[in-house]
Amino acid sequence: MMKTLALLMLATVATAKLKPITSYFDVCSRNQNKEMLSQCVRKSIEKAKIQLIKGIPDLKLLPLDPLSIDKMEFKENSGRFKFEQTLTDLKIYGLGKSVIKDFSMDLDNFSFNVTSFTPHIQMEGSYVMDGQIMVVPIKGSGHASYNFTDVTSEDRVTFKKVKRNGKTYLTVNTYTLKIEPKGAHSYFSNLFNGDKRLGDATNDFLNENWYEAFNTYRNLPEKAFSEFNRNQAEQVYKRFTFDELFPDKP
Ligand SMILES: *[C@@H]1O[C@H](CO)[C@@H](O)[C@H](O)[C@H]1NC(C)=O
Ligand SMILES: *[C@@H]1O[C@H](CO)[C@@H](O)[C@H](O)[C@H]1NC(C)=O
Ligand SMILES: *[C@@H]1O[C@H](CO)[C@@H](O)[C@H](O)[C@H]1NC(C)=O
Repeated sequence: MMKTLALLMLATVATAKLKPITSYFDVCSRNQNKEMLSQCVRKSIEKAKIQLIKGIPDLKLLPLDPLSIDKMEFKENSGRFKFEQTLTDLKIYGLGKSVIKDFSMDLDNFSFNVTSFTPHIQMEGSYVMDGQIMVVPIKGSGHASYNFTDVTSEDRVTFKKVKRNGKTYLTVNTYTLKIEPKGAHSYFSNLFNGDKRLGDATNDFLNENWYEAFNTYRNLPEKAFSEFNRNQAEQVYKRFTFDELFPDKP
């Protein structure tokens, strides 16, 4: 009996069908001008916000607050300085408080831009790092903690149509992200094999010069998070056809 039940449940999971798109998101007709369409999509995202924060497992959309990322790598060796940092078991808090400041979508040119504001983002994880920040060598492994305040981010996305099994889908063509914090404070434990004086001095230096430090390597987190956002967007685009996402109805 139990075995049959378990088998039945397995079968149900294996064949679980995606629900229609409207059970996840309000959809917007493609037959409206750019301003109306932008307003409609913005409203739809805002309405889905609570779901998006919790995550939508059917669509493989991860919970956003806290957001867990197993591994993120930052690597710069093109310029005069080299720098490498790997963050693991990263937890990011605060994205649930993000608000959309501006949203525009254009289906003629297949692009959308969104500006959002997040009052406080806290990141905690394990780090391994080696390289140079400004004139300061930095090396260590331990716990990393970051706080960013009043963060404005701008996602600029272009997409294109692709055909699969005779159906038209959208896919992301380019995804760029700009991140602009008003303040930052970080702490790296166990820098330089736990040399306390050198570690404290380096942490202080990084906090006193946070903007320049951030600005030197901003392309690294911008690239890593744009990849992340791009993957999240693709989870939706690959599951629903263009007609389902933007129906041709008045
Ligand atoms: C998004 O921003 C880019 C660059 O400023 C602009 O060329 C494009 O028209 C914008 N797209 C929309 C939908 O507003
Ligand atoms: C699409 O982009 C082209 C050039 O990039 C521009 O001339 C055209 O006005 C744009 N269309 C819309 C609807 O914004
Ligand atoms: C970040 O902010 C939290 C909560 O305000 C605080 O507990 C933590 O010590 C801060 N960490 C750093 C590195 O500033």
